[in-house]
Amino acid sequence: MNIALLGFGVVGRGVYDLTLDRSDINVKYVVCLEDVQLPGVTVTRNYNEILADESVDTVVEAMGGLHPAWDFVKAAIEAGKNVVTSNKAMACTFYDELLPLVQEKNVLFRCTAAVGGGIGWLSELGRVRRCETVLSVGGIMNGTCNYILDNMTRLGLDYDVALKQAQNLGYAEANPSTDVDGIDTWHKVILSSNVAFGVSLDKQSVPVSGISKIKACDVAAFKAHGYTCKLISTGKRTDSGFSAYVQPTLCPADALEAHIPMNFNLITFEGAAAGRQSLYGQGAGRYPTAYNVVQDLCDLLLGNGFYAPCEGSVAARNNEQLRFYVRGASDAWLESVTAEIWDEGIVTAPVAVDEMHAWLKNHPDAFMAAIR
Ligand code: HSE
Repeated sequence: MNIALLGFGVVGRGVYDLTLDRSDINVKYVVCLEDVQLPGVTVTRNYNEILADESVDTVVEAMGGLHPAWDFVKAAIEAGKNVVTSNKAMACTFYDELLPLVQEKNVLFRCTAAVGGGIGWLSELGRVRRCETVLSVGGIMNGTCNYILDNMTRLGLDYDVALKQAQNLGYAEANPSTDVDGIDTWHKVILSSNVAFGVSLDKQSVPVSGISKIKACDVAAFKAHGYTCKLISTGKRTDSGFSAYVQPTLCPADALEAHIPMNFNLITFEGAAAGRQSLYGQGAGRYPTAYNVVQDLCDLLLGNGFYAPCEGSVAARNNEQLRFYVRGASDAWLESVTAEIWDEGIVTAPVAVDEMHAWLKNHPDAFMAAIR
């Protein structure tokens, strides 16, 4: 297999290193802006050279972002080349165009590293689907947020200090908003739900709230009531279709999620036959992520492509009633549903997830967390 590697940053460099000694995977081209010298590899900025080279059967996209990543991936598929990517934003955003194109051009596509980094979550989910009705997917899918929340909980750090540490360790995306406002997790749970349920979720119907407004006083209140705050994603089948959302969630001490340290991920599915199963491991980082890119390349060598038949677009409906902790804003509606006071915040009576997120959109300075 001759591959062209698009991007030579954290993941691209990792893929290069992990394939160096393999006889079955040969990096023929690297496309990057940096001036790097790699023995036996053509380093180029001319993508057309790669498209025209029939000996290149597979393009590995490790650039991140939407453009030009999607333009390059689309051109590769149209040229009849297989594609492996770790890019969740791209796979999620262009899902509806990507899957039909892959089928039409009869090429292979995989994106295991896009969710869970070093955890083979999407590949396992594809296996699960072969003989199982998936009832729910979700969990802790963002290492940066888990690192911040874990350090705030264990060490009593302020949010800004914990974020700076996560950035210094290279966990956070270039723009930390992608992590801390929950967008990275949002892409990941939409992609996971699409694979799990064989649909394409309408993205606008999946509400997301992140952790950027959390303060040390919130964490202290949660501790006093026996809870640990985590950024939790949820995708599930319901009586009326599907539900999906991302929100900070207070987990009781007996929940596995409450014990996930540092930048680790814990992703869980529930199946009708298999019951609940969780995958735990490194959700980010050079070699864990590159490991799953190389695993995908090995699957391509076996002729195994992406695994998700898609039956069309559906909107999530999130009418599940949950209690929420809220601090930082109030109005008549919030007062009407307030059931308890927790130090500087309040706890609501059960309200619908969609209703709570709609309220938060109009109160962007507030912090909100669901209570399990
Ligand atoms: N910024 C992401 C995280 C990287 O912190 O989990 C992996 O998608």
